[in-house]
Amino acid sequence: MVDGEYSRGQVIVLGNEKGGTGKSTTAMHLAVALMRDGHSVATVDIDSHQGTLSRYVENRRQFADGKGVRLPVPEHTRFDISTSGGESVEQKLERLDALADTLTSRLDYVVMDCPGSDNPFARHAISLADVLISPVNDSFIDLDLLARIGGTPPRVLGPSVYSQTVWEQKQERARKTGAKIDWIVLRNRLSTLESRNKANVGITLDQLASRIGFRLVDGFHERVIFRQLFLQGLTVLDLRDEGTEISLNLSHVAARQEIRRLLEAVKGEGAATADSETPAGAPPKADMAAGPV
Ligand SMILES: Nc1ncnc2c1ncn2[C@@H]1O[C@H](COP(=O)(O)OP(=O)(O)O)[C@@H](O)[C@H]1O
Ligand SMILES: [Mg+2]
Repeated sequence: MVDGEYSRGQVIVLGNEKGGTGKSTTAMHLAVALMRDGHSVATVDIDSHQGTLSRYVENRRQFADGKGVRLPVPEHTRFDISTSGGESVEQKLERLDALADTLTSRLDYVVMDCPGSDNPFARHAISLADVLISPVNDSFIDLDLLARIGGTPPRVLGPSVYSQTVWEQKQERARKTGAKIDWIVLRNRLSTLESRNKANVGITLDQLASRIGFRLVDGFHERVIFRQLFLQGLTVLDLRDEGTEISLNLSHVAARQEIRRLLEAVKGEGAATADSETPAGAPPKADMAAGPV
């Protein structure tokens, strides 16, 4: 542990209710960034049906072994959420709590990757989060994750199901432990070209941030390299290492800076200080009943 013998590790949860927004990619990049920063890191895949993060970590282990490259690999758990083994959902949720408890007692960070759909485990994982990161792609379809938006000009019609879920889990966490959740919305797959859509999405997100209670972080641009590394289990942070055989170009360097910015955002403002403007008692609904975005 970095902060002294008795401090616990931080739980970072990647969650939203939409597939394909970049949760697993971000989880892996963040885990590697934290390890390269000298932290001990566990990864937990509760999207066990898809198992993307589990395969990513396994590919990394195999690549490192096969090539004889020294790569930091997180301590990984694939948390099976199916109840076919006879365990009830409640029992499994208790096991998830126990797993988070054990890992945070030993390690600096636990990065948890959630499925892109609502289920009791994804919901419960939010309540375990010191930091919740929700990647959204740059389109009004994805903003639907955060609020119902419609009309011309676009207006907020009400909170989304996911925003309500996060609010409920903030309540649950505050009730159980008194702790807060630092909710980060990460713009992902940003176009490198400026467009009216990009600007409008940005303005809307800025306005939603204070209404719903999240921090907005400009994340990653759309880059081919993010799609190329899964099979080797690599991240853009590994490209300089000998044996990875991918030469670094300008886009890769920019991608590395984007990861570092996310890392700084995650570490810079912890759950203890964040979210102070959104009291746990104020549901997003009351704040969002009307008004142009
Ligand atoms: N910034 C990016 N640029 C290009 N492709 C990306 C980027 N982020 C994610 N992807 C790709 O988008 C797809 C979905 O990403 P993934 O991390 O699996 O999303 P999720 O876990 O939310 O379902 C994958 O093919 C991934 O390689
Ligand atoms: Mg995924």
